[in-house]
Amino acid sequence: NERVTTATFRKYHAEGKKITMLTAYDYPTARLVDAAGIDAILVGDSLGNVVLGYGSTIPVTMDDMVHHVKAVTRGVQRAMVVADLPFLSYHLSKEESLRNAGRFMQEAGAQAVKLEGGREVAETVKALTDAGIPVVGHLGLTPQSINQMGGYKVQGKDEAAARKLIEDTKALENAGAFAVVLECVPTPLAAKITEDIGIPTIGIGAGPHCSGQVLVYHDMLGFSGQFSPKFVKCYANLHEAIMQGLQSYREEVENGAFPGPEHGFGMDEEVLKKLY
Ligand code: KIV
Ligand code: NA
Repeated sequence: NERVTTATFRKYHAEGKKITMLTAYDYPTARLVDAAGIDAILVGDSLGNVVLGYGSTIPVTMDDMVHHVKAVTRGVQRAMVVADLPFLSYHLSKEESLRNAGRFMQEAGAQAVKLEGGREVAETVKALTDAGIPVVGHLGLTPQSINQMGGYKVQGKDEAAARKLIEDTKALENAGAFAVVLECVPTPLAAKITEDIGIPTIGIGAGPHCSGQVLVYHDMLGFSGQFSPKFVKCYANLHEAIMQGLQSYREEVENGAFPGPEHGFGMDEEVLKKLY
């Protein structure tokens, strides 16, 4: 089981083999996702929503991310680990961007980083790539700009927005990005972009014509038991399975069914007698 690298991405892309990606934020999850043969694990800043209980990705810090990227890389043997640069960690200066991306690689053991934006981050993408840090772009719905976009909605629906998206994707490719995530983009537009550019597109809410797909782990396994976006398919109902387990435990402790004799430890009768 050879390590997945940027060369693997290029090979799959050339062969028309779909690239699989899922998020993970901790060691046990990373082990499962890796063992399932998923090609890349994104330690997304969706960490904020999914695991830390924030209402958006904005509050997530570099230290939060490094902590979780470390846990993930300890659980992975084959998958490429992509670490998501959080809000404002790649905007202040080229130096600051390099230092933060460098922490993910050197301190936390990631193999690549991801960042949001198009032309406006192209120089940063080039600086990171020049320093030997593989970069995944992220266009369409970019949650770090939620306050600017004014809501979580499909991007690139009118001609101007669609053209901007196409140009931004090309800017990322030219700056050296080795893949680009397209989030909440109309299916035909994602198909056109995928055709137009030379690097793989990884879709989420972007239809079946992308070079690969990514979903949030907790969404696709049905952890929340609540609303999930239209583009999510639930492959399991873990909310139900977990609730069943938790409630059974509570009931069995309360009614004395757990622990049973098989869950306890015995001791020598003679020793016991002396205690009475
Ligand atoms: O943070 C994240 O999970 C992401 C994916 C949804 C692409 O950026
Ligand atoms: Na993200």
